[in-house]
Amino acid sequence: MKNTSKKTSRRAFMNSVIKTSAVVPFIGAQSLSAAASRVNIKPDSPLKILILGGTSFLGPHQIAYALGRGHSVSIFSRGKTQPTIHKDLFLRVEHLLGDREDNLEALRGRSWDVVIDNSGRKVEWTKATAELLRESCDLYIYVSSVSVFYPYYKAGLKEEDPLVLKVPETMEDDDEKMTYDYGVMKANSENIAMEIFGKERSTIVRPTFMTGPSDRTNRFMYWPTRLAEGGDIIIPGSDNDPVQYIDVRDIAGWMIRLAENKTTGIFNGVGPASITSLPAFVHGCHAAFSSKVNYIHMNDPKFLEENNLTFVAPWIKDMKKYHGISRVNNQKAIDSGLSFTPLAVTVKDTYDWWYSDAVSEERRNKFLLEEFSLISREKELLEKWNTWHK
Ligand SMILES: NC(=O)c1ccc[n+]([C@@H]2O[C@H](COP(=O)([O-])OP(=O)(O)OC[C@H]3O[C@@H](n4cnc5c(N)ncnc54)[C@H](OP(=O)(O)O)[C@@H]3O)[C@@H](O)[C@H]2O)c1
Repeated sequence: MKNTSKKTSRRAFMNSVIKTSAVVPFIGAQSLSAAASRVNIKPDSPLKILILGGTSFLGPHQIAYALGRGHSVSIFSRGKTQPTIHKDLFLRVEHLLGDREDNLEALRGRSWDVVIDNSGRKVEWTKATAELLRESCDLYIYVSSVSVFYPYYKAGLKEEDPLVLKVPETMEDDDEKMTYDYGVMKANSENIAMEIFGKERSTIVRPTFMTGPSDRTNRFMYWPTRLAEGGDIIIPGSDNDPVQYIDVRDIAGWMIRLAENKTTGIFNGVGPASITSLPAFVHGCHAAFSSKVNYIHMNDPKFLEENNLTFVAPWIKDMKKYHGISRVNNQKAIDSGLSFTPLAVTVKDTYDWWYSDAVSEERRNKFLLEEFSLISREKELLEKWNTWHK
């Protein structure tokens, strides 16, 4: 059930934000110096880096960080996905066109120090590029996901924990099938990259939910938009439900430093430094703003169940198969140099990006109406919650 009056008032609020702050340009160069300044010492030998992909969410941040550190970057894509941030930096990047499905010609006869495989969507894609580049690149860095651990029965999952390598024959529903498909694809892709390049020349990075400017999904946007506005803010789940997330720029910069240091092995790319609860996360997000807020803790499992409120990134209701998703061990990544942007900085930067010209007004408006999202269900849920307690 949708409530248009609330949406209209929120849209009016957002339009007023847009009008008063004007849609500000999202300036890549500023972000580049910010990214580069996180680590002051530049490496002695600039690297030649090939990024498979590079134009969507993670890629532009890797490019900003790598260029800031003095490396040169080539990217390989079909030329369909256009970057929404750091656009000016792409003038300094070599763009090779092709298709991982059936056309790797642009990569033939070339050599790089490092290849970063961002766009791995099929095991065969990773197999083909790893075989093609085995003799012409020193290091293969594969971007995997903590989804390799699905089903997440266990807390404290470590890099060496066993993975499911075959999709089971019976499944609860289509959602579960998709989750298995993705995790099993990533797990087998990790293995094929390590098999072809050898463990001594391959690095596997497994990010958890990434957030930050240029996210193509809207899944984190409830927090910055609503916390900036203030009023009743829904916090679903039990008060101690843990959450894990990572600023996309932390993954990007860390990956470039892994490349510089030729660090090999498997790493869970998970933040923050220590596991935090959803309420603590929300307070951390609100530190970016000064609005008056009233937190509504929807912490009754029966209410959550009846209202199908099980996922608002980075929170997932504690269910058997998801128990470990927000309890993944990140010590090895921290030891290898993964560092964490303060949450309020992530949220403020994401908020600024959301109201910049990098995001269309159409996207902002669509977000307010997204089916099943917390933002579109907010009024209805608040009303139901009030009745539930009468
Ligand atoms: N977002 C998260 O929270 C999250 C969490 C865990 C792991 N991950 C993983 O992180 C990785 C990075 O994702 P990203 O979207 O941010 O990466 P990205 O490198 O910024 O973008 C994906 C790139 O792949 C290219 N591409 C897609 N299909 C292609 C094809 N058939 N041939 C050649 N290039 C192709 C796209 O360009 P064209 O469309 O122009 O070809 C685009 O440049 C992914 O592997 C994802 O699974 C993401």
